[in-house]
Amino acid sequence: TESVNGNYKLKDYFSLRHSLHINKTKLLIRGGTVVNHDRSFEADVLCENGIITEVREGIEAPDAEIVDATGNLVMPGGIDTHTHMQLPFMGTVAVDDFYYGTRAAVAGGTTMIIDFVLGPNGEPPLQSYTKWRQWADEKVCCDYSLHVGITWWSDIVAEDMEILTKSKGINSFKMFMAYKGVYQLDDHELLQAFKRCKELGALAQVHAENGDIIAEQSKKMIELGITGPEGHEMCRPEEVEGEATNRAIVLANQVNCPLYVVHVMSKSAADAIVSARRRGCVVFGEPIAAGLGCDGTNYWNKDWRHAAGFVMGPPIRPDSSTPDYLMNLLACGDLQTTGTDNCTFCAEQKALGANDFRKIPNGVNGVEDRMSVIWEKGVHSGKMDPCRYVAVTSTNAAKIFNFYPRKGIIAVGSDADIVVWDPNAKRTISSKTHYQAVDFNIFEGMECHGVTVVTISRGKVVYDHGQMKVVKGSGRYIPRQCFADAAYMPILQRDKVCQPQKVEREPYTGPVVSIP
Ligand code: URP
Ligand code: ZN
Ligand code: ZN
Repeated sequence: TESVNGNYKLKDYFSLRHSLHINKTKLLIRGGTVVNHDRSFEADVLCENGIITEVREGIEAPDAEIVDATGNLVMPGGIDTHTHMQLPFMGTVAVDDFYYGTRAAVAGGTTMIIDFVLGPNGEPPLQSYTKWRQWADEKVCCDYSLHVGITWWSDIVAEDMEILTKSKGINSFKMFMAYKGVYQLDDHELLQAFKRCKELGALAQVHAENGDIIAEQSKKMIELGITGPEGHEMCRPEEVEGEATNRAIVLANQVNCPLYVVHVMSKSAADAIVSARRRGCVVFGEPIAAGLGCDGTNYWNKDWRHAAGFVMGPPIRPDSSTPDYLMNLLACGDLQTTGTDNCTFCAEQKALGANDFRKIPNGVNGVEDRMSVIWEKGVHSGKMDPCRYVAVTSTNAAKIFNFYPRKGIIAVGSDADIVVWDPNAKRTISSKTHYQAVDFNIFEGMECHGVTVVTISRGKVVYDHGQMKVVKGSGRYIPRQCFADAAYMPILQRDKVCQPQKVEREPYTGPVVSIP
């Protein structure tokens, strides 16, 4: 056990001694209200060897370790669909690594992250994947899975995608429409990548921003003498995100490939997704904690470090009604999952762009606070019920990325990844008290109802009333199969019944003009 400040305390020693007398493979969560995506009910939850083995009222298990959940909610652990732990990016490396990042995750009630393999342009994706597995496996404190970024295009990439899907448990690939000259694919390459995803039964993901416009307009900002973080937003206003989102949807739909738009940051991007869903396109949208909990007026803050702390792509929007707008769409089902894009840089790293916003490493925190921010802005605000909260923080991710019902639900046979949640307790978010390695928190000062009491990963208590009990490297990689029902059932049926049909007619027999 490890206390908040990393020192061992006498109290930990006694609780360790006590734990020697009980069967560590059995854990009983008693007296809480279980909340799943479809219903909530009073029940005890018994976990044995990392799996949920019983869910009902009045379970007796004398040899089990007991977690008292009286008065609290017992929910599937959060699944953060979008993180970048220890990402080498823009000349530096994100400070929250797979250890600090997942440790912070469990403190906030998240029990699984899906990180992005992002190799440099030119590196075969299989090689990048192997590197990420090595980095993550020795450090993760909870289970994790991986998406693979397609940062360049070639036959080698297309071949590696097949190996990754068939033997490495990858079923989602992220394509970039921005970061010109680094990761950006053009429309022809995007189309090839979407077609390849479709052949393999993988989900295509996009970072949707028009990188050509950004390259052009950011130069203009610098010429105007706007070198500060506000220039980052002004050179890529929301229509730049909206255009790319719509373009990605059209390209994917043309090859009948399901699409998942990561970090939906603006009304324009969200509207493109909503209208496509109304037309019947298979497209999913992922807002992130930053976009749901903050607004982009922070880029105009007089304190440079503060403003730079919010720099990420696509930017958080200055329109102060955007967070509510995105939350309403999550609540009604038009947007489906929530991530964080957790990709953190300390002051001295952000300072790489002190005189030029184009060099500020892009990324913000969120992995620790996502569950609280969404509870506060979603449930406490009255926009969604706790079942919908579970859907958007956990279940939908498990379905779309194809590891449901292994995770995303409290049910017999599922992994015992659970958060005991006090919906009435309050906490104030601050970089002074957070577990993340980064020195800044975009949610600084936000008072949130909804506090993690106990977090359980694979049947083991990893966080308990402010006490960290994580074990470095104890998390496991979760491989995933292609052709997820949630994404591919309608797609495959359309392939069967919606093929273009020719019209049978008599041949034309009249005259034809001759071309010299
Ligand atoms: O600013 C961001 N989003 N940094 C991480 C890379 C990405 O595009 O997701
Ligand atoms: Zn991105
Ligand atoms: Zn990202």
